Amino acid sequence: MNKQVPHDKSLDNSLTLMQEGYLFLGNRMKEYGTDLFEARLLGQQVICMSGEEAAKKFYNPELFQRKGAAPKRVQKTLFGQNAIQTMDGDAHIHRKILFLSLMTPAEEKNIGNMVAKAWEDKIAEWEQAESIVLFEEAKELLCRVACEWTGVPLDEEEVKIRADDFAAMVDAFGAVGPRHWKGRKARTRAEDWITGLIEDVRSGERAVEDETALYEMAFYQTPDGDQLDAHMAAVELINVLRPIVAISTFITFAAVALFDHPEEKEKLRQGGEEYLDMFVQEVRRFYPFGPFLGARVKKEFEWKGCIFKEGQLVLLDMYGTNHDERIWDQPFYFNPERFRHHPENLYDFIPQGGGDPKKGHRCPGEGITVEAMKASIEFLVDKIDYDIPDQDLSYSMARMPTLPESGFVMSNVRRKA
Ligand code: HEM
Repeated sequence: MNKQVPHDKSLDNSLTLMQEGYLFLGNRMKEYGTDLFEARLLGQQVICMSGEEAAKKFYNPELFQRKGAAPKRVQKTLFGQNAIQTMDGDAHIHRKILFLSLMTPAEEKNIGNMVAKAWEDKIAEWEQAESIVLFEEAKELLCRVACEWTGVPLDEEEVKIRADDFAAMVDAFGAVGPRHWKGRKARTRAEDWITGLIEDVRSGERAVEDETALYEMAFYQTPDGDQLDAHMAAVELINVLRPIVAISTFITFAAVALFDHPEEKEKLRQGGEEYLDMFVQEVRRFYPFGPFLGARVKKEFEWKGCIFKEGQLVLLDMYGTNHDERIWDQPFYFNPERFRHHPENLYDFIPQGGGDPKKGHRCPGEGITVEAMKASIEFLVDKIDYDIPDQDLSYSMARMPTLPESGFVMSNVRRKA
């Protein structure tokens, strides 16, 4: 145990973590007046850290590795076992280039256009419905777009079950009990489905266009020149499909932001592409989605008087860094304007991880996320009018991941004249 850094005295904080959720790390940082403390958590001695400097350390591959960091329960629901998230070194970079090669700026725009069109196609149906739940609609719409973009065939009758399965994997990441088991079942079903598809593509039974994610995952070769086994290729293809569906969470929060700050609609109409971008960034900063990240110390080092022992688990507070007063003025205030002059920085704004995505684990899907959100916000602001009936839009800070209780119900939807 480090004597020089604050140490939480509790025998184990796992229960408190479940109770405080996104605020657990930040609450302790505030209490100890520090951005680094040690605690017993998840049955081990863990170092918790927050802020830009901490993120810089965390993304130094000489100091940290991912091997052994992600709990099995997270691999069996959210990531898939032994997937890119758990890899290190050259093998990781090689696999990462595969993901990044799919997500070129042109493809990001392409997805944005697909999302925009898919929303427009919904209007006629919504005009006939009494009300719709935006989160549910976004999940299914993004599932269709994700499958079309990756080359994965999807029958209309399948959309709901597949969308629900991808969402259940995400919903399980901070869960114990039934939510965890639902996520596991969803993963098994999705892996069976996609493994079969990879096998069919490899055997030539199913034709697929090259340059789609389905093709690239099916025929990717590791640095040793081997193909992934069909199951592993499926796990990695699901690492493209699932997170596209997960953008539904940010879209739902964007709708909440428009409701809570009605003046933003006019600013978006007047502000062009620049303001739309600022609004999207503020939604990703302000609302809770990813709480923290974990890595293990690769070789012992000392920082800020704290010895980081080889093999020790270290958590980086993503939510806390995105609400760090040293970086953000009035961080708990929703204000897209803060992004007008915010300098590019790889470590201070980390809703999808930090550092350079080509060199480390930062999310390769940020461009896709931003484009899909932009298309959705433009749709909500410019293409339709709607009423927002009484509902519970609050979201729990203890539940990880969280979501507005009602999922954002809209009624009396009509096409804008
Ligand atoms: C990694 C968040 C969307 C694919 C990550 C990480 C986070 C994250 C926090 C981990 C970073 C780290 O370990 O350092 C999100 C959020 C999204 C989103 C909140 C919005 C819903 C996407 C999209 C894709 C994607 C749209 C692909 C189409 C991945 C992959 C990784 C990853 C493959 C693993 C990267 C690696 O380990 O090198 N994401 N992501 N994500 N994300 Fe995303």
